[in-house]
Amino acid sequence: MTTLAIIGGTGLSRMEGLRIARREMVKTPFGAPSCPILFGELNGLSVAFLARHGSQHQIPPHQINYCANLWALHSVGIERIIAAGAVGGIADDCLPGTVVIPDQVIDYTHGRENSFFDGTHGLNGVTVRAIDFTEPYNADLRTALIQGGDASDVPVVTSGTYGVSSGPRLETAAEIRRMENDGCTVVGMTGMPEAALARELGIEYACCTAVLNRAAGKDGPIDTAQLSAAVDVGMKNARTVIMAALANLK
Ligand code: HPA
Repeated sequence: MTTLAIIGGTGLSRMEGLRIARREMVKTPFGAPSCPILFGELNGLSVAFLARHGSQHQIPPHQINYCANLWALHSVGIERIIAAGAVGGIADDCLPGTVVIPDQVIDYTHGRENSFFDGTHGLNGVTVRAIDFTEPYNADLRTALIQGGDASDVPVVTSGTYGVSSGPRLETAAEIRRMENDGCTVVGMTGMPEAALARELGIEYACCTAVLNRAAGKDGPIDTAQLSAAVDVGMKNARTVIMAALANLK
């Protein structure tokens, strides 16, 4: 039984090296997930893979059906998730190419369906419930990622706060100054509500973020052409760390 899933983000809509055994499009009470779930073997481990933005990277961050994605993974028996995501670097050591394993999150998103406990759906007959989210990321999965980073030559920042903005536009310099004052280390657009929905379903979850650029205002305006060019390197590094982490999860 496959219990570990990888959610791929920008630049990781396909998981290179995954020997795909089958794919399943799961129906959920929340609508369709971003794409079929792929089941296969990666680095000797049985894993499921879901491309968050769809298999053609066609769904922008604010239109992703996070509830459907997490519900689909839960309904096929997933108990642990490693989620990859592209981010901008706010802290000085978060330069392009760095992988950051956050230990905290601040949710700046708005207008997203952000809970299964919405008074109607819920889980096991419970429709209203507040989960503990003090530590948003699973410690064992974070350790596996950090050790994976140690075993690779990728520069890894082993803690930090992931500030999640709604997008799809990038932030203003003032928004980044505010996030920095709040203690954010990196900024991305997909970290929430994904992490909270996983917690609501009892799925262990950790995030492996790849810095593609300095956040808005840190090095002047963001060169979006450079940003696209940085996706390959950033995601290759995230993939290297995730692959090495799998060795610690056997
Ligand atoms: N901001 C938000 N999301 C991002 C960024 C950024 O600077 N870079 C990559 N994803």
